[in-house]
Amino acid sequence: MSAPATEIDYSPQGEAAQQVRNRLRELPPLAYRGWVLPSRYALSPLAGYTNLPFRRIVRELGGLGLGTTDLVNARGLIDGSIKTNQLTETCPEDAPFAVQIFGNVRQVMAEAAQLLESRGVPSIDINMGCPVQRITKGGAGASMMCETDNTLGLVQTVVEAVKIPVTVKMRLGWDETRITAPFFAREFEQLGVAAIAIHGRTRAQGFTGTVDRTGIRQVVESVSQIPVIANGDIRNVTDAIRMFAETGCVAISIGRGALANPWIFRQLSEWEQTGQVGPSGTFQDRLRLLRRQFGYVQQQKGADRAISSFRKMAHWYTKAMFVSAYLRQQLQTASSLFEFEATLDAIAAAGPTRGQIDGYLPEWQIPVPTGPIEHW
Ligand SMILES: Cc1cc2nc3c(=O)[nH]c(=O)nc-3n(C[C@H](O)[C@H](O)[C@H](O)COP(=O)(O)O)c2cc1C
Repeated sequence: MSAPATEIDYSPQGEAAQQVRNRLRELPPLAYRGWVLPSRYALSPLAGYTNLPFRRIVRELGGLGLGTTDLVNARGLIDGSIKTNQLTETCPEDAPFAVQIFGNVRQVMAEAAQLLESRGVPSIDINMGCPVQRITKGGAGASMMCETDNTLGLVQTVVEAVKIPVTVKMRLGWDETRITAPFFAREFEQLGVAAIAIHGRTRAQGFTGTVDRTGIRQVVESVSQIPVIANGDIRNVTDAIRMFAETGCVAISIGRGALANPWIFRQLSEWEQTGQVGPSGTFQDRLRLLRRQFGYVQQQKGADRAISSFRKMAHWYTKAMFVSAYLRQQLQTASSLFEFEATLDAIAAAGPTRGQIDGYLPEWQIPVPTGPIEHW
């Protein structure tokens, strides 16, 4: 029997981490067709979460290279729907950012991209990864990974319609028998796509299993110049180092890990520069952050709508803060600003059920969405 392979130590102070750091420090900064981004750590789009208030607070903490909106319906943009206008809302502090669009009609996608460009949006991302049937059944999202001619035609039309950089975010393929991401990455580079973001799962996988870093590496190796941004299951600096080491990527994007720990981009940037990993927020830091983000939601939606719209976010915040189940429930059911604020005061007074109020908090991770992929 052969001996089990030794697990590589990817911890930030380890030897493998040092090698990754040396490589990163020799690389040029992350740039989309000459547009230099502040870091190589991007926020992955999370429908329902990566709205303007969340992008602002993540950016204020530091280290973020690029924020991206939730996926936005290209047709809705052209029709001027209220929802798409809210999803694409931005402010001077929200820079640099990209708007992610989805759709399957090339002229509609191109027109939506032109509209965004005319509004000063600096970059467009095309969604080719969404597994939800509502999106794929119309030929958009991950189903684009099964359609060679239509997909290449659509992406080319969008790239040619605008001067700003166009990127594509995709999965490895539809299922394990149809791994088309390396092919598309190579073709997209020829068409002038500025960067590829790749979530290392197939559509069939949904969020199950682990991210296939070998699959991501194949995408990295299939392009010659443009950056490939690796994505999936990065929850801390160690996970990021493993992603860089095993895929050879030049940048990463983080979704759920940023909800659990919005300090992750700052920690990564600091680690790249100094080799040291700073702390993530304490219980009190997180409570301050929650209040600030809620303030931004109020500015955007008004006090009444802010409470209901912030519930999803408050759920993850309070979980990561180890707030008692009772107080979490109180916050979820608060129906007035008075009740909401009073519950926050009670949370502040009670402190966490694990860890310390102004020191160490155990690392907490957002569980992988379970059940049919339609339900995430
Ligand atoms: C709730 C939720 C919403 C998502 N919304 C989008 C989306 O709008 N566009 C997109 O390209 N990917 C979306 N994704 C996928 C993420 O961007 C990311 O690829 C995936 O979560 C894996 O990365 P992570 O492990 O860092 O979260 C979503 C994922 C989740 C869990």
